[in-house]
Amino acid sequence: MQQLVIKAFGDADQLVLVETQAPVLQDGQIRVRMHYAGVNPIDAKTRAGLGWGAQAIKDKLPWSPGFELMGTVLETTPGAGRFQPGDRVFGSVGGGGYGEELVVDADTLLPVPDGVPDDMAAGLPLAGATAWQGLTDHGGLKAGERVLISAAAGGVGHLAVQLARGLGATVVALGSVDNHDFLRQLGADEVLDYKDEAQMAAMAPVDLFFDLVGGTSGSSLLSHVKPGGRVVTVPTITAEQVIAAAVTLGLKATGMLRRIDNDQLQRLSQMVAEGRLRVEVTRVFALAEGPAAHRQIETGHTRGKVLLRG
Ligand SMILES: NC(=O)c1ccc[n+]([C@@H]2O[C@H](COP(=O)([O-])OP(=O)(O)OC[C@H]3O[C@@H](n4cnc5c(N)ncnc54)[C@H](OP(=O)(O)O)[C@@H]3O)[C@@H](O)[C@H]2O)c1
Repeated sequence: MQQLVIKAFGDADQLVLVETQAPVLQDGQIRVRMHYAGVNPIDAKTRAGLGWGAQAIKDKLPWSPGFELMGTVLETTPGAGRFQPGDRVFGSVGGGGYGEELVVDADTLLPVPDGVPDDMAAGLPLAGATAWQGLTDHGGLKAGERVLISAAAGGVGHLAVQLARGLGATVVALGSVDNHDFLRQLGADEVLDYKDEAQMAAMAPVDLFFDLVGGTSGSSLLSHVKPGGRVVTVPTITAEQVIAAAVTLGLKATGMLRRIDNDQLQRLSQMVAEGRLRVEVTRVFALAEGPAAHRQIETGHTRGKVLLRG
């Protein structure tokens, strides 16, 4: 089978398509044919040798990125329980999503609910969990509160806008002017161009800032949070810097690491099936176009989700 791997850390061209042996199936596992795999900033950062992800795999190269996927079951084992060949499945994996086939423990993946398109199922697990856990578990967002979401048109942000609105919050979404109609369609109450100083200065304070950009950009937005308000900063590489700046201003601040929770993913996918949550897939690349997919995510200006097609 074909798989995209890196043999060393570096730029997007480090991703190469190689022929690898399909893994042997153990009892309790399923073999899955990947149809779509999500491409996330963590894939590109890890490929580049940055952050905790790169630390975790630095002695395990070659490595294949890919932490979420949708596919169909090719083969099962007696201990694999509920799945049959041909079933549509999706979910989070611990890497290796960028390959034609994957062998995983059967309880790793979930059935794709009827009404959820294949591509949306592939783009939901990582960004959906991050958006939901950031707003609720870490952010404690309540109905009637104001929440500021930066990078609101991106993979996590566009889901966070819809989920925050569904929780009954007033959503202030930041994005480039080209994304403003998109953000309003998602349900944002106020849409602001983060490059427009006058617009930004006029923003009424918020109860919660869901920071999806981090660094100096994240720190510069802290002044828009009400006294004693809350900040959840999502990019891990700059989390300490943003938290320190927030604490200096008397805010409650935390970083986060997305947790895999299949019950939660099941509920999010049901929202997609019922039309209450939409996963915007803007670009789909062939597996052989992995470097181009990484260059797209590295622009930092992707709308919604980027996928690879298996
Ligand atoms: N800690 C965790 O568990 C975890 C989980 C998931 C993601 N993350 C991190 O969270 C961040 C967001 O992830 P993502 O998948 O949503 O990324 P993404 O899809 O690549 O985000 C792209 C968006 O960022 C916006 N943007 C770029 N610069 C901006 C700025 N200065 N101010 C406001 N918006 C800006 C762009 O908006 P415009 O095009 O409108 O400019 C674009 O819509 C990444 O750093 C990622 O690594 C962390």
